[in-house]
Amino acid sequence: MTKYTAVRGMDDCLPPETSRWQALESIARTTFASYGFSEIRTPIVEKTELFARSVGETTAIVEKEMYSFVDQGDDRLTLRPEGTASVVRAYVESGLASQHPHSKFYYMGPMFRRERPQKGRYRQFHQLGVELFGTAAPASDAEVMAMLWDLLENRLHLPDLTLEVNSIGCTGCRGGYLKALEDYLKARADGLCGDCQRRLQKNPMRVLDCKNERCQAVLYDTPMVEQHWCEGCSGHFSEVQSMLKQLHVPYTINHRIVRGLDYYMRTAFEVTTTRLGAQSAVAAGGRYDGLVRQLGGPDVPGIGFAIGGERLMLLLEDAGTLAIPSATTVCFVMLGRAARDTLLPVIQGLRHEGLMVHWDYDERSIKAQMRHADKVGAQFAVIVGDDELRNRAAIVKTMASGEQETVAFDRLVQHLMGQHA
Ligand code: HAM
Repeated sequence: MTKYTAVRGMDDCLPPETSRWQALESIARTTFASYGFSEIRTPIVEKTELFARSVGETTAIVEKEMYSFVDQGDDRLTLRPEGTASVVRAYVESGLASQHPHSKFYYMGPMFRRERPQKGRYRQFHQLGVELFGTAAPASDAEVMAMLWDLLENRLHLPDLTLEVNSIGCTGCRGGYLKALEDYLKARADGLCGDCQRRLQKNPMRVLDCKNERCQAVLYDTPMVEQHWCEGCSGHFSEVQSMLKQLHVPYTINHRIVRGLDYYMRTAFEVTTTRLGAQSAVAAGGRYDGLVRQLGGPDVPGIGFAIGGERLMLLLEDAGTLAIPSATTVCFVMLGRAARDTLLPVIQGLRHEGLMVHWDYDERSIKAQMRHADKVGAQFAVIVGDDELRNRAAIVKTMASGEQETVAFDRLVQHLMGQHA
């Protein structure tokens, strides 16, 4: 018989792992909401053109990694490789860009890139991202980074993270930098891979994110963008830094950050870790002031970031700092239908009070039901046999200690709620 397996690089998420994701998402939601961000949900499939136009034709993502297809109506569609393009599209299409240019969104969900799967790198992965529109002020760059840091450091308690910040200049000062970069790369073009020789003609900055070792060796001494910053860009970058200091966000400057997507300008940043080998970027983002206009909207600036959910989860597992809220778990062990019919209202009452309650649908022996109680991780078993039914009092067994006490049916909810508190 055919054995079906999941697509390579696209993993299932099963309990109890799902509870960990729910806990993480809940902390992220609370954090983003506390900074005034609201959730936006966009479709997973978009027109291919949207990503080609925003992420960039010459980026590795668009050139090699997108899951694109032509549907039955001859539309060219793509499973989203990232969230920013979709959010900007929705922001423009809904009219918000014109009516409420100051908008703050967050999103969570699957993204798709056909990369080579390895630890921390998948073909379906999840991002927790934010986008802030309507201001080009350096204060907003600082606040967005401060929020990211607040989530990772103060609310998820992750150790050994570094916030690395750079400014990649604007369209005004980019020209001089690109020229210097192009000259540097052209003089060493023989050492570059075929893809990069082609990129060099179209977009020399994309050569900088090539993972090929030969190219990495050539890139060792490339010109740095900061030598070409215009006055506006260098002023913006110093203000971002002084705000970060004021907000007590530790950071380091890394002029090598250029980001692998075309829409960025000025501030670009990454949060990195030394604990995930080659997949060191846990989160990344930056400013993209021309993107809204490029996608047909008004000239509204924007900035945002996305966290790689799986990478974050690996770090959280390692650090053991993710608190997973758990309900008190009770398993009812009942012999016979009369016991079941009498106790079902009690079971519902406990569930309404927030307890997690199991019972055996298969009317098995008390012994089998006790094994079930163990298996589901019940803290308490409520046992009702013939005697207990007659006396209208159950045996409540604390599973960990084996201690037992007799509790009247009409006091069960109150009693177990007491244990719950
Ligand atoms: P990005 O750097 O392409 O930026 O991705 C952000 C994060 O997603 C990465 O730092 C990494 O943690 C995670 N990630 C990327 N690819 C994979 C993968 N194949 N497997 C696992 N995790 C991965 C963006 O996507 C931008 N849209 C971020 C942004 C939002 N910029 C402004 N607003």
